[in-house]
Amino acid sequence: MNILAIESSCDETAVAIVRDGREALCDCIASQAALHGEYGGVVPEIASRKHMEAIYALADQALKETNLKRSDIDAIGVTYAPGLIGALLVGVNFAKAAALSLGVPLIPVHHIRGHIAANYLAFADLEPPFLCLVVSGGHTLIVDVRDYTVFRILGTTRDDAAGESFDKIARVLGMPYPGGAALDQRAKTGDPRKYAMPEAKIAGAPLDLSFSGLKTAALNLIHHAEQTGEELDIPSLCASFSAAVTHALVPRTMLALKETGYKKLAIAGGVAANSQIRAAFERETAKEGVKLYLPPLSLCGDNGAMIGAQAYYEFLAGHTADTTLNAFATMPIDA
Ligand code: KG4
Ligand code: ZN
Repeated sequence: MNILAIESSCDETAVAIVRDGREALCDCIASQAALHGEYGGVVPEIASRKHMEAIYALADQALKETNLKRSDIDAIGVTYAPGLIGALLVGVNFAKAAALSLGVPLIPVHHIRGHIAANYLAFADLEPPFLCLVVSGGHTLIVDVRDYTVFRILGTTRDDAAGESFDKIARVLGMPYPGGAALDQRAKTGDPRKYAMPEAKIAGAPLDLSFSGLKTAALNLIHHAEQTGEELDIPSLCASFSAAVTHALVPRTMLALKETGYKKLAIAGGVAANSQIRAAFERETAKEGVKLYLPPLSLCGDNGAMIGAQAYYEFLAGHTADTTLNAFATMPIDA
């Protein structure tokens, strides 16, 4: 089954064609990141307009790259939640028109379910149930993936997402948006123990996370240095901050593995590209005899292939929509 999948929830317009949920025949992406960089973050109006400009050409490119005809497309998958509402609507309306004109099913896909499904493209042997840590720009979730379309949230952030806090610190340090990858790069030559960072614990909720205190502590450190003229060791600050995020994520995820008894852990979302986080999970899962699924960097950030992968399993579960489908800015993964 060939699914043409569309993703437009934030600042990447993406169209992919995925066969049977596991094989990306192409993964076409038009990133707007550089454009939004001028403003230090995503400008929703600009994002919607750029999606409109890019989406038709990307769909044509996907057919061209795969040598497929329109009649070879068996269904259309599309991200319909969560995300920027105007941006989502561009993808949803394009998908509706495509499904209607081709006479094929329309499959709505939850963006975070898509991030998890990126792992199905990278690992042919991965099947639910397993545990997944989702760390993206807007979400931080420890998820029990009971089945392809059955999820239970075990832990989540009480305030900022991991990616959001990376981006904020990177921005204050003058790195271009989105700064997570640049901060990770700078951290490589730094000493992760040089700057002490606070650790948040939530009473009665050992799997929940909080990044706002950590973010504020790092910002205070930077502002204090600016005021006193102290020269900061930027690589070490980046390394210390990344280490603090890593120390928040890894033990909780390992605890969730213990509680569920799962021996399979997948990581998903843009922040899964972080080198310290990847290294720490490799170390800890090896110690505990847990099989780790770390998708390649190309499948960590937003892409269309992950939506095509999840769309296949939503279709098998009977989750299709008609042309009344709407987009939603927020929606829980287990709705
Ligand atoms: O999953 P994603 O592409 O978009 C959302 O659904 O939010 O995640 C984007 C986030 C941004 O916050 C970006 O800075 C972060 O992932 N990111 C990283 C790295 N690469 C991307 N954060 C830390 N280290 C990285 N190497
Ligand atoms: Zn995403």
